[in-house]
Amino acid sequence: GRVAVLMGGTSAEREVSLDSGRNVLEALRARGVDAFAVDGIPALIEEIRRGAVDRVFNILHGNKGGGEDGTLQGLLEALGVPYTGSNVLGSALAMDKIRTKQVWLSLGLPTPRYARLPKGADVHAAARAIGLPVIVKPSSEGSSVGVSRVFNDADLESAVELAARYPGELLMEQMVVGDELTVAVLGDGVTHQALPSVRIVPKGEWYDYNAKYIAEDTQYLCPGLEGDAEAEIRRIALAAFLAAGCTGWGRVDVMRDRATGAFYLLEVNTAPGMTSHSLVPKAARQVGIGFEELCWRILEQTVE
Ligand code: DAL
Ligand code: MG
Repeated sequence: GRVAVLMGGTSAEREVSLDSGRNVLEALRARGVDAFAVDGIPALIEEIRRGAVDRVFNILHGNKGGGEDGTLQGLLEALGVPYTGSNVLGSALAMDKIRTKQVWLSLGLPTPRYARLPKGADVHAAARAIGLPVIVKPSSEGSSVGVSRVFNDADLESAVELAARYPGELLMEQMVVGDELTVAVLGDGVTHQALPSVRIVPKGEWYDYNAKYIAEDTQYLCPGLEGDAEAEIRRIALAAFLAAGCTGWGRVDVMRDRATGAFYLLEVNTAPGMTSHSLVPKAARQVGIGFEELCWRILEQTVE
């Protein structure tokens, strides 16, 4: 059947999604799949109306019209069109970093201390309770859009102002000083497996939007850790993915405290980047799964 590769959209991550989408489209076509590009949800609805879509490979990133937050998934369920990735619940929960943390904490999974920042919240009191330095970010964005690292009390307001430019709630989180790691999770239709971790070594101070997509000097180590530590990060990442109700594929971002070696879960991405700089393809390659094979496997596990 015909596969719509859904990309682009209207979120802050539009450009990243277009990049991911072009790669996926090319890979599926190389595998002989009758795939075509669709930019955004309104265009997808038109294609579905015309009867042109048997399945959707969703590579939209981001919230609301973005397509990663459960709304698209609900639409496709209602229309009876199978799609890749997590279902309504997993997508919606994972897009909300605050509620994801609450679920993890209830299960004893480690995540940095945090505060929700509703309008008018006392940000200074929140920072005192958590302890500087902190991260201020939108609860439902991706690619580090709207994220600030705050070391001084005086910089809290501008950080909140920046994060508030994006839709949804704001989150303040304890800054874990240490290594930035990520674990890709891939299903096989029956069970899910954590792939080797990737440790990210940005040239600048942290893995921001520039280090993610623009800089050519960000280093990636895969596997990111050795021995027991590598086994442990895969174990908690898979548990975190499943706890959030996610399925098919995804990527769990994790910090490791440099002083204690402890892991802290940050979030799950249910439609992770598939750009040439992105992390899931790097982890897959480490276990002998090339990009085309990766796209094929993701496509095989559609939610019906
Ligand atoms: N939100 C971006 C696309 C990622 O997680 O890779
Ligand atoms: Mg993310």
